[in-house]
Amino acid sequence: MSDSGKKWVKEDPERDGVYWPNENMKERAWLSDPEIYEKARKNPKSFWAEKAKEALDWFKEWDEVEEWNPPYFNWFLGSETNLSYNCLDRHLEDKRNKAAIIWEPEPVEEKERVLTYQDLYREVNKLANAMKNLGIEKGDPVTFWMPLIPETAVAALACQRIGAWHSIVYTAFSPDAVKDRMKDAGSTTLITADGFFRGGKTMKLKEKIDKVLDEVDAENCIVINRAKTDPDMKEGRDYFYDDITENEDAYSEPEPIDAEDTGFLLYTSGTTGKPKGIKHSCGAYAAQAALTTKWVFDLHPQDIFFSTADIGWITGHSYTLYGPLLNGGTTLWYEGSPYFPESDRWWKIIEKYGANVFYTAPTALRALRKEGDEWIEKHDLSTLRILGSVGEPIDPDTWNWYFEKVGEKRCPIVDTYWQTETGGILLTSLPGIGPFIPGVAGPAIPGIQYDVLDATGEPLGPGESGKVVQKHPFGIGMLRGIYEAHDKYVEEYWSEYGLETYFSGDGGRKMDIEVDDQPLIQITGRMDDVLEVAGHRLGTAEIEDAVSELDEIVEVAVVGEPHDVKGEVPAVFAIAKSGNDTEEGRKELEKKIMDKVRERVGPVASPGAIYFVSDVPRTESGKVIRRFLKGLVRDDELGDMTTASNPGCLKELAEKVNYEGPEDIVSFTT
Ligand code: WTA
Repeated sequence: MSDSGKKWVKEDPERDGVYWPNENMKERAWLSDPEIYEKARKNPKSFWAEKAKEALDWFKEWDEVEEWNPPYFNWFLGSETNLSYNCLDRHLEDKRNKAAIIWEPEPVEEKERVLTYQDLYREVNKLANAMKNLGIEKGDPVTFWMPLIPETAVAALACQRIGAWHSIVYTAFSPDAVKDRMKDAGSTTLITADGFFRGGKTMKLKEKIDKVLDEVDAENCIVINRAKTDPDMKEGRDYFYDDITENEDAYSEPEPIDAEDTGFLLYTSGTTGKPKGIKHSCGAYAAQAALTTKWVFDLHPQDIFFSTADIGWITGHSYTLYGPLLNGGTTLWYEGSPYFPESDRWWKIIEKYGANVFYTAPTALRALRKEGDEWIEKHDLSTLRILGSVGEPIDPDTWNWYFEKVGEKRCPIVDTYWQTETGGILLTSLPGIGPFIPGVAGPAIPGIQYDVLDATGEPLGPGESGKVVQKHPFGIGMLRGIYEAHDKYVEEYWSEYGLETYFSGDGGRKMDIEVDDQPLIQITGRMDDVLEVAGHRLGTAEIEDAVSELDEIVEVAVVGEPHDVKGEVPAVFAIAKSGNDTEEGRKELEKKIMDKVRERVGPVASPGAIYFVSDVPRTESGKVIRRFLKGLVRDDELGDMTTASNPGCLKELAEKVNYEGPEDIVSFTT
């Protein structure tokens, strides 16, 4: 019987705005008995060992389940597996002709591509052989600057097949950002496309990256001829994908990889200027991606999973690519933008393929909501069963709109909290267990220990805001360190409460609802200097470093300013050298700042506001007090203003940002 239009949730009769799975959902779901939480809590090690065995094929079993040397931990020691084998080979027997990836290109005249498991397998094997011919080996870092096209999946899986580590950089980061990441990882191979299509435009990649390839002395550049832009190709370094794979053998033995060998690197923003190369394991990461896809999105064999996340982010890695394929599912990819050719692009795609699970970010939902409900109403979305949200807190208003308009009040919303560092989802309500509450992520998934602590490290009770931490045993797929930066690893995650408590950087509070003694947790947002701009993670320090490169700038501080669609945007407070204070001079400098940020970080980090000021608040030792700047742009409390050595500057700042918050700055500063 078709599931079309079926209802999967019911409202709590006693608490408004609290939803639970109904009988349909409980019957369908892989997990519907809350006892799983208790089972996992009693013996997390054996729980994960049992589940990891179910999730993957292991070439060699482990000798030891877990080892913990704070702040490092390892899982499944001594075992061997291969991610490409687990995504492909083992599905060939019964899913050879099943769609692995359905790809919807942007140009309307172009036809979709469907890669069956066999198609994908063949392509991956050929590219793996071609990469070996180029001298790429196990343990080599391979940088990608790739859009969401099927060859990106092929290339990632080819790396996995031979044990090379992909390091994928989002295409809205700049060539300079690619360069920094290649240098940090010591990568001499880049995989890119000549270009791709977005919003009706051809976005060129190869042409833009050529300068970088020379600067890093790249040895190989593999180019997918996606947009047919006829890029320059340097003899002996640049190769078209089609040329090097054409005559290759369609089999390449999957390399047995130690479970704790690095599976890939993914650079992300932290509290310092330089992005960090987050190191993920091969075995436990894969097991976690597989299991969380199955549990959280309740993925069944006939389902079509539509995650809109780009491959340049961890969500793209774990849920657009690996999670669905590890489960033998069908993942739906698209090229381009949600607004082109019209604002119903995603709704149209859901209808065209009958997608069952839809996973996106609140910022996209807010933007699409602004486009008007008529775009949704034109389409039949009745195949949807589960909706997901990720990347930032989802405000209850947007949650309710998503629930009513996209899910027609039929589908649960899984608000999934996690991070690049955690590798997979760790906090969310499960579809068959619930509950689903607007703005609340949920309990930790089974086998994971989250808590909310006060400044002294004491656990807080329901309703009290504090720091969101993870306790041992940590998520099996958590980062295994920062590439060649032990001190940074300790400083970023293990310094707040000591080496046995992972601090996420996020604030949150427990709710007064529990599931099998696990409190639901609401995430309130970052407490450090990391921004979430349209769901994209950026460091304020990266943007500050870029702006500081301008000769005209004496000092700069960046904080996140609230934005109704993007969540927040970078707000730049700049002190300019004298001589730039005419209106024209300011305009020119504003443009220079914009250009510099776009050049050094990428268009994704473009400032939303630039304020020229004569001073910024500082401590006695001269450190900028961002808390004040954040409070000012948020119309919020500023805290103890006497901590500034120069409180007089707050008046000018308040005027610049039109501060309407609770503090009486004028009387304080006069
Ligand atoms: C935020 C994305 C609230 C959070 C997977 C985290 C969220 C950062 C949620 C990680 C959510 C992610 N609710 N906040 N459901 N999901 N975040 O590394 O601040 O790009 O620390 O990973 O996004 O961003 P990242």
